[in-house]
Amino acid sequence: MGEELKKTIKDMVVVGKGILAADESVGTATKRLASIGVESTEETRRQYRNVMLTAPEIEKYICGVILFEETLHQKSNNSILFPEVLRKKGIVPGIKVDQGLADFNGSAEQYTKGLEGLRNRLEEYKKAGTRFTKWRAVYSVSENTPSEKLIARNAADLAKYAKICQEHGLVPIVEPEVLIDGTHSIDECYKATEKVLKAVFDSLKKENVMLELSILKPSMVISGKEAQNRAGVDEVAGKTVKCLKATVPAGLPSINFLSGGQTPQEATAHLNRMHTLGEKLPWYISFSYARALQDPALKAWKGREENVPAAQKAFLKRARLNSLATMGKYAEEMEN
Ligand code: G3H
Repeated sequence: MGEELKKTIKDMVVVGKGILAADESVGTATKRLASIGVESTEETRRQYRNVMLTAPEIEKYICGVILFEETLHQKSNNSILFPEVLRKKGIVPGIKVDQGLADFNGSAEQYTKGLEGLRNRLEEYKKAGTRFTKWRAVYSVSENTPSEKLIARNAADLAKYAKICQEHGLVPIVEPEVLIDGTHSIDECYKATEKVLKAVFDSLKKENVMLELSILKPSMVISGKEAQNRAGVDEVAGKTVKCLKATVPAGLPSINFLSGGQTPQEATAHLNRMHTLGEKLPWYISFSYARALQDPALKAWKGREENVPAAQKAFLKRARLNSLATMGKYAEEMEN
């Protein structure tokens, strides 16, 4: 098991590369397709996946793709199963294994479902060719949230999930997302993120999860989307790195951020700045974006076959710029 996990980490922690999160659930994919006026069916969702996963030379910038269960069994326009499309390009296929959010003890907060029956599902996912997994927990920031109870519950579940995945030879991506929605300040986000990450790493340790064979997918420390005087690039990058250094053990190989509602340009600029702060980072820092990589492509595609080349171009542009950002080589002028 250990060798299998080590090999997966080696294939997924590659300087200049990151992870594409193409794992929108049917509900989320339906929202994304609705934004371009396309009805969500199994076939339109397949076409949407086909745009990104068959983009030429995607493997120059992307070393892993998180898939949604439905996509595992779908085929590209060339009739090749998507996990196989990726494997042939040397990209590691992974799978979202949580089963979404549910109300937490009747409060306004939500916890993540999916531990029940997880072992059996993992067997199936492995047979389909996946080598890593993802589990997302969410936390809102307000006067009373995130609550201690939710922080403890999510930390415990993330650790159980990670342990079970490693037992099956699958590298776990642990994703605690402090949501950007709201009017909170960057410092309030810092406080919440620090508490959340401390609890997550305490639980991972308690469960004896092998940190060196795990990946963290956090949100950045950032002002709420509706906050006044939102923090700029330097502050977001500086406070994010400070918070991670205070909470994330050096033994973890890679931190791959989610974009969480930042614009594609913001997500790239923030990642880039973290690499130009001049700080020594004990882990590789990269991306695992969904919207920040795919939104421009979605808009260019509009569900039309004739737009596929333009959509792939838009997707590859974001992939390339984020690849440069992982090396601190991105500049705003490159957007034009
Ligand atoms: O779970 C969330 C996705 O994996 C990342 O999505 O980059 O759009 O926040 P996002």
